[in-house]
Amino acid sequence: MRVVIVFLLSALLPHSLSHQPDPLAWVYTRRSQGHYYGSLQADTAGGACPDECDCPPTFPIAMYCDGRGLSTMPTIPSRVKYAYLQNNAITAVPDSTLANATNLVWLMMHHNQLTSDAIGKKAFLKLESLERLYLQHNNLTSIPSNLPRSLRDLRINHNKIEKVIAADLEGMDNLTILYLNDNAVTDMGTSLKALKSLTLLDISGNKLTKVPEALPEHLHQLYLESNSIDALPESFLGGFTQLQYIRIAHNQLTDKGIPANTFNVTGLVELDLSFNKLERIPPVSTTLQHLYLQANQIKEFTLGSFCTFTDVSNFSKLRTLRLDGNEISLEDVPSESSICLRLASTIEI
Ligand SMILES: *[C@@H]1O[C@H](CO)[C@@H](O)[C@H](O)[C@H]1NC(C)=O
Ligand SMILES: *[C@@H]1O[C@H](CO)[C@@H](O)[C@H](O)[C@H]1NC(C)=O
Ligand SMILES: *[C@@H]1O[C@H](CO)[C@@H](O)[C@H](O)[C@H]1NC(C)=O
Ligand SMILES: *[C@@H]1O[C@H](CO)[C@@H](O)[C@H](O)[C@H]1NC(C)=O
Ligand SMILES: *[C@@H]1O[C@H](CO)[C@@H](O)[C@H](O)[C@H]1NC(C)=O
Repeated sequence: MRVVIVFLLSALLPHSLSHQPDPLAWVYTRRSQGHYYGSLQADTAGGACPDECDCPPTFPIAMYCDGRGLSTMPTIPSRVKYAYLQNNAITAVPDSTLANATNLVWLMMHHNQLTSDAIGKKAFLKLESLERLYLQHNNLTSIPSNLPRSLRDLRINHNKIEKVIAADLEGMDNLTILYLNDNAVTDMGTSLKALKSLTLLDISGNKLTKVPEALPEHLHQLYLESNSIDALPESFLGGFTQLQYIRIAHNQLTDKGIPANTFNVTGLVELDLSFNKLERIPPVSTTLQHLYLQANQIKEFTLGSFCTFTDVSNFSKLRTLRLDGNEISLEDVPSESSICLRLASTIEI
């Protein structure tokens, strides 16, 4: 019976946590081992639990205030490490509400009504253990000032941010994940340069007209789709050591805007150039596995973009090739393609 309860509880956890290490895991483990004797008295160390929230006596370092129609930010007691305030209508974060919450590790404030003016200039300043801050789906027009340098995962997508400046992200040596997508960013200056540990950068759905300068060299995933980029910088991909996934779909790229051999780099697994204005298939490395080129203006199937004929043994590792919505048909694909593209299980034309 206990085992069943454990599974039900984990099924009820918010979806966003399902792929993350679960801070409650130790509670379940101890329960299921049958020797859990937690106190049923609420722990008030560091301040009482606000009436509008739940602080489970069995897990006093978590505070659940999500989805309760709150418009005011509750004060977070100092013992709390995990605070869930998402899906409310909170409009402001006064400095005092977080003043004592110096043990916070996660702060979930996504889907609220926060505006930049209503966030205290020092609200986040003392949160020196904060690793995960979720602010997506609010009304922010800038990245809050004085964010803790300890952050590892910052999600601030679906806001109204127009500009990111160097001071916003300076010193965030441990930041690995940054979601800035679906804002109104036109300029990022060199703000990304400082992010030594960044592996995932999503700046899709903004108003960029060029690729941001000084992208961090350890990126694994770079998402730039749905901007207004018409050209890529010279040796754009040469500076990365671990880039595997790059998406530039839904931009204004033309052949002229892509320097020769830009995508002929090993290491890339997936390249998405769909919904642009390309007229030719750009040369790619034989190691690429997924190439999306649908909805361009490609007029010719150039097998040489995938393989060189001098080295028949070095065939393309492409598994997916999408060319539908272009100006070519099946007859344009030469018969030698089956030798070069021998692994491709999906070719759509
Ligand atoms: C912070 O903690 C101190 C000492 O426990 C207490 O006096 C103060 O009222 C608390 N501040 C807030 C905003 O709760
Ligand atoms: C936030 O933006 C939404 C939609 O743009 C708007 O309806 C709402 O009034 C805004 N809230 C605040 C507090 O500005
Ligand atoms: C980054 O993480 C390391 C190792 O966990 C830690 O020692 C360091 O203090 C963190 N840096 C910041 C700026 O918090
Ligand atoms: C890609 O680059 C390699 C050298 O790294 C070169 O041998 C090959 O011909 C290039 N492929 C294309 C299609 O230009
Ligand atoms: C195959 O060609 C690629 C360039 O497309 C090159 O980087 C790689 O070293 C070649 N592999 C072999 C085994 O020759």
